[in-house]
Amino acid sequence: MMEASKKSELISYPIRDIVQEAKVLQKQGKDMIYLNIGDPGPYGFRPPQHILDAAEKALHANYSGYAPSDGDPELKQVIADYEKVQSDDVFVCSGLSEGIDFLFQAMVDPGRNIILPSPTYPLYLTKQRMSFGSEVFYESDENWEPDVEDMRKKINKYTKAILVVSPNNPTGAVYSKKTLQDIVNLAGEFKLPIISDDAYELLVFDGSSSNLRDLCKEVPIVNGNSLSKNYIYPGARVGYIAFRGEGWDKIKDAVQRLCNQRLSVNWEMQRAYIAAIQGNTDHVTQFNSELKKRCDVLDQRIKAIPGLKMVKPKGAFYAFVEVEAPFKNKWKSDWAFVRALLHEGVVVVPGTGFTSTLHDRMFFRIVFLPPVEKLNQALDRIENFMKKN
Ligand SMILES: Cc1ncc(COP(=O)(O)O)c(C=O)c1O
Repeated sequence: MMEASKKSELISYPIRDIVQEAKVLQKQGKDMIYLNIGDPGPYGFRPPQHILDAAEKALHANYSGYAPSDGDPELKQVIADYEKVQSDDVFVCSGLSEGIDFLFQAMVDPGRNIILPSPTYPLYLTKQRMSFGSEVFYESDENWEPDVEDMRKKINKYTKAILVVSPNNPTGAVYSKKTLQDIVNLAGEFKLPIISDDAYELLVFDGSSSNLRDLCKEVPIVNGNSLSKNYIYPGARVGYIAFRGEGWDKIKDAVQRLCNQRLSVNWEMQRAYIAAIQGNTDHVTQFNSELKKRCDVLDQRIKAIPGLKMVKPKGAFYAFVEVEAPFKNKWKSDWAFVRALLHEGVVVVPGTGFTSTLHDRMFFRIVFLPPVEKLNQALDRIENFMKKN
């Protein structure tokens, strides 16, 4: 038997890991409702037609070669205009996932860290671990807004950057302008750059939102974005990171080399991204109104289930649901809870996949993309499960 590398043992992605267990039950005939993955496609949401048209047009034009490693020059310029940076500040990646990978590779040596929100999108945990970085989280308040005072306490001489994700995965929180401004002030005080993950930037259905790029002024920032969620096209696998402000030269140089070694990003889909940024965003209004409907249903249903509690999301399409005492005491862990729920035909993701600082509380992440009827069916199953236990 060949051994896998030690480093590979650090890789986990609970959002998909749980599916393997669900598939076993499904094979045995169990009807499963998948509320684990943030992919709008299976629930009938499609990319806007003008983006698909641009992809098709590119397929018939001459984009079958390797693209420039840092991205199609026209796309880089369109992104630069959107982010209000220069074209050579922009690096096109295979989804924002690759951008996140590049940032960790370029910025985090062993023992160093990017300070992460708790809870956070799991890829950040894995990348921090694989960089042999130290695991440092800042806590969130009861509404899932960052606790900026806790952030202050956790920043140390090994901190290389502050990660901010708003709208947030897994909580659906959309941070207030004041919180964002406080983070900018803190970053300025400690001379740290900010990483702003804007994967859900356009998906805000309750209230308004601000973006750090408009608040940062002298504080260096890197904004990450992609076609996946904002334009409902995760399969396109195109995203970018865009650097703004002073001091990035060595990191940009490292990112350029990381781009070079993997050759390029799918060129046809880069052409589609140009159409996305230049075209209308009518889909956003419609998508958000559908998300709001589903979120309202989820909120009402969760409120009515004894033992479950959640803060109502304002953006993205996730909620982080708490299993309260005494109900949680029955389970050895959130994984045990989620595995038992699998047997009721509902797939969600355990809270510990998103942080290691839950302080003895138990959570799971639920996706509210399915149509209301399907969502209600899943919630009926969850309600029965909670009643039985
Ligand atoms: C917060 C956040 N950032 C980044 C990503 C990665 O997105 P992609 O690689 O599809 O662009 C995701 C995907 O779910 C996400 O939720």
